[in-house]
Amino acid sequence: MTAALDDSVLDSLVEAAKAAREFARAPYSGFKVGSALLAEDGRVFGGCNVESATYGLTVCGERTAVFKAVSEGARKFTAVAVVTGADLPTPPCGACRQVLWDQCRDIVVVMSTLNGKRKVMMLSQLYPEAFEFEGPE
Ligand code: THU
Repeated sequence: MTAALDDSVLDSLVEAAKAAREFARAPYSGFKVGSALLAEDGRVFGGCNVESATYGLTVCGERTAVFKAVSEGARKFTAVAVVTGADLPTPPCGACRQVLWDQCRDIVVVMSTLNGKRKVMMLSQLYPEAFEFEGPE
């Protein structure tokens, strides 16, 4: 089931992800990714992929957005947008799905191409039976 979220909310989140994508640093793959995470308090956190010369240190756009949000004190989230220049909407990678689940739980994920092809799913559909671990904190 997809949580009811106004189309205009999703539209503006996709626009924010598109804007964040402009800052992507993807000199090795050439694949720019933009993301935008909507917090329950209305704040929107943009993120882009930032690649490293030692490829494995690359951080995806979605995780950049999550870490920015959490480090600014946001704790509850509604939706995340992912925008790429691919022909079809790009779903978050496995690592990002776990980190999104860790911090956001079951949010709406809107995936969009630059020319507006869009797919909307709940994170639980993309990442069923997620690993959860409640630490002592
Ligand atoms: N990438 C993302 O930013 N998000 C994903 O969910 C998948 C992949 C980035 C990592 C790398 O910079 C480029 O896309 C190619 O893998």
